[in-house]
Order: sequence, then C-alpha cells, then structure tokens
Amino acid sequence: MLLTKAKKFIREMHHELGLNSSEMNSRFKQIENEINESGTYTHTAEELTYGAKIAWRNSNRCIGRFFWDKLEVRDLRHINNEDDFITSINNHIEHATNDGKIIPLISIFSNDLKIYNEQLLRYAGYRNAGDPKSVESTSLAASLGWIKEENDFNILPLMYSVNEEEMKYYEYPQSIIKEISITHDQYPDLEKLGLRWYAVPIISNMDLEIGGLFYHTAPFNGWYMETEIGVRNFTDEYRYNKLKDIAEAFHLDTSKTSTYWRDRALVEFNYAVYHSFKNSGVSIVDHITASKQFQQFEKREHKEGREVTGKWSWLAPPLSPSLTHNYHKGFKDTVKSPNLLYRKKESGCPFHN
Ligand code: ARG
Repeated sequence: MLLTKAKKFIREMHHELGLNSSEMNSRFKQIENEINESGTYTHTAEELTYGAKIAWRNSNRCIGRFFWDKLEVRDLRHINNEDDFITSINNHIEHATNDGKIIPLISIFSNDLKIYNEQLLRYAGYRNAGDPKSVESTSLAASLGWIKEENDFNILPLMYSVNEEEMKYYEYPQSIIKEISITHDQYPDLEKLGLRWYAVPIISNMDLEIGGLFYHTAPFNGWYMETEIGVRNFTDEYRYNKLKDIAEAFHLDTSKTSTYWRDRALVEFNYAVYHSFKNSGVSIVDHITASKQFQQFEKREHKEGREVTGKWSWLAPPLSPSLTHNYHKGFKDTVKSPNLLYRKKESGCPFHN
C-alpha cells in the first residue's frame, strides 16, 4: 500500500539524517491527506534528492556504490514542454561529461515525458555494422524518420514523447558528445581498427522507485569501469565481437587456443581502453581499483549498521575476477527500497529488459 511505503521511506530518511520526529509526524499526516485526496503524494525536493542517492546505494549490480552520496540530483519535475525537455537532456550530457571529469548525475523528470532509449548515448546497430544491442532501437529510430549512412559508431538520436503525443527523435549536437579513440602505446596497429567509445554511460531505461512512487524518466550516469567496454562491449560475440581482430593487431598467434591469444589480447585491450580514456582526460576506473572501492563501501556501510546487498555475478568483474575480494564471497540479492529497477512491461517502453 502506498501510504505504508511512503511512511517507511520517510521514517528511514528522518532516522538516517537525524531529523526530528515531530516534523516526521506532521509529514506523515500531510502525505496521508494527500493520498486520501488524490490517490498519490508528492516528494519534497529534499526527499527526492535523498531517495535518489539511496536508490544508488541499494543497486545490487553496481560495483561503484562507494560514491553514492556524491550523486548530483537534478529535480526537473516541473519541466512540461518539448523545448525545455531537450535542453535539459543536452545539459545533462554536458554537465555529466564535465570536460572529461565525469560527474555522477541523475535528472528526474515528470512521467509525462518519456524516453525510449536504453542509454541517452548508444551506437546504432545494423545487420552488418554497429552495436548489435541496438538493432531494435535503431529500427525504431528509422521508423521515426531517422536516416543515416550505416556505420559502426553512429550515435542514436534521442527518442521521446511529451504528454502522450506522438513519438519523435532528436539528434544531439555533435559538440556535446565526447568520444575516445582506443589506442595502445606499444601496439600502434590497434588504432587502425578505428575503435572508439563514448565517455559517459547514461542509463535511461530504468525506473527510480522512492517510497512507493515510480519515476519512469530519470536518466542517470556514473563513469565507466574499463571492462564494460574492454571485456564486454567490444568482445562479446553478440556485441562488437572484435577479439580476433584485436589479437591480430597485437601480433598474437591466433592459430590455436593454447597460445592463450584470447586471454592475452583481453588484458592488453583493457589496458588500452583504460589508458585511452585517461590520456583523453576522461574518468574511468580499472576493475581492481573499483573492487577496492567497493570493499571500502562495504566497510563504511557495516560501520553505519547497514547490510550491503549485491548481485555476485555483476560484482565479480569479468576480467581476473579471483583477484578481487568480491569473487570470494557471497551477497544477498534482496531488493531494498528506494532503488533503480528495470522498467515494467506495462510502461509501454519497447526496450524493457
Ligand atoms: N555496461 C553498460 C555499457 O557498457 C553501462 C552500465 C552502467 N555503467 C556504469 N559504469 N555506470 O554501456
């Protein structure tokens, strides 16, 4: 029941922030009245900010949670027209990118505005080019009239709708999108593959749940961990599938498995991704450091008397997992609230996971 969830959230917030209980009780009353009158209630700006941060802290798949209280929260619930919406999305990209010194940021919009992209920035996917993960969203963009010559690295446009009106697309100005070419200081041939990636992963297909209320349009970002790009996006067979080309650029003998060409190429390639970002002045973390930061997060949470929940298969990095402490322990995958959740099917988004 909504009131129960609302009260639980408010109680926890007051407890954590050490706020006084008479204020809490009057807030309970206010919320109860609002729910009785309208069937729902409205978060204050403070509740929204606190809720969004806790949602990150409770994200079981995220290894970067050490920084949860550094999240910048933009309360954009008042935005109600197309122009302001698009301006705010562009501002999110620019502010989060911050010339490379990436700022963890969430922008929370009203549910009358909808985004149909999986991330604000993503490369299009075609049968013979681009990111296979984006094939479905690329045909959606095409059906909206987006035409572009096929390429491995076409940034998809923003696909959105406002107040239940028709779905549209919008192409971002190139100037706000930072991309990094992947190079290796000891293997110049890698550059010839022309691999590149965008600086900021801004997830736009998850729901922010706070105290029983769902924000469907709340794009958020941190910075990349190098394995996301190096082990998964370029290497998975169902993604860019480039491991063989990469190994050849490193002059490895790919004629048989026993040369360990796959593993060798993977390590060098992740080194290349990491240093390409760093050399371009763009924030990125390596998997060993991220795991250590996660350990610090666990310690801090423990000290605060809070249990850290997690999803082991996501918290163990996909490169040399046994070198990190996460690999050697278990996590309880209980979903706490507030949280960031994969979108429910009935929300009408074609890309629910
Ligand atoms: N794995 C996703 C990608 O490669 C990004 C997910 C969010 N990652 C992050 N570091 N915040 O695009």
